[in-house]
Amino acid sequence: MKEIEDDILPKRRSHLMGPAAQARALAEATAQLAARRQRDALPHRIETPRLVLRAPIRGDVPALVKLADNLKIYEVLARLPHPYTRADGIAFVELIAQRPDERPYAITLDEQFIGVVGFHFHEGQPPELGYWLGEPYWGKGIMSEAVKGLLEAAFATRLFPRIKARALVTNLGSLNVLGKAGFQRLGEGPDPVGQNAGKLVAFLELEQPKWT
Ligand SMILES: CC(C)(COP(=O)(O)OP(=O)(O)OC[C@H]1O[C@@H](n2cnc3c(N)ncnc32)[C@H](O)[C@@H]1OP(=O)(O)O)[C@@H](O)C(=O)NCCC(=O)NCCS
Repeated sequence: MKEIEDDILPKRRSHLMGPAAQARALAEATAQLAARRQRDALPHRIETPRLVLRAPIRGDVPALVKLADNLKIYEVLARLPHPYTRADGIAFVELIAQRPDERPYAITLDEQFIGVVGFHFHEGQPPELGYWLGEPYWGKGIMSEAVKGLLEAAFATRLFPRIKARALVTNLGSLNVLGKAGFQRLGEGPDPVGQNAGKLVAFLELEQPKWT
């Protein structure tokens, strides 16, 4: 707690706040710190039978742009620019991937970038799993393998009691990937945020399996 007060609260001018506002700021700072710990505890590199998951790098940009510039991928993701330009690719590698509330991994096959899998951290909520794979690689069990590798690494840290996900109810491929990974469907409703806001999505959650 001392660490939080020293590190974060002064920036919020805690001396100018009333007790209720201070308590709220402290709770918010605690949640932020917990998310940062989860992010930083994840390994830099994850190996699966066929794949290596690692931080996105500048050298990924040409393949990233080629594969991400695809309407079929754009239409089912909450956050992806379209058309997807070189500037978007550079911004993803240099800015988005560096944010404290993001931990995306480049999915690589034979050292080639083929997609992205990772977590988005929300204050006070379980991290949210997200992913996309370049269309030439669909239907080969690749995302199931990448998701399994990432979930095992996350659960090994013991900092992820629950992980959440959401997918358009029409996105059977993604719902199958999540079902195979053990996610339980909690319900359905309009997507609260992102470019698909208002469209019907399924909300899912996975608890840390007892045997891990
Ligand atoms: C969804 C996506 C990640 C699936 O990746 P993938 O590597 O092709 O998936 P897998 O091969 O691991 O398939 C997992 C299961 O889903 C099934 N599946 C895959 N695509 C499917 C589709 N379009 N419709 C129905 N089932 C599908 C597979 O048959 C497999 O089931 P099985 O093991 O019983 O055969 C990929 O199609 C993609 O990137 N789509 C666009 C982006 C996206 O949807 N992101 C998620 C947003 S929530």
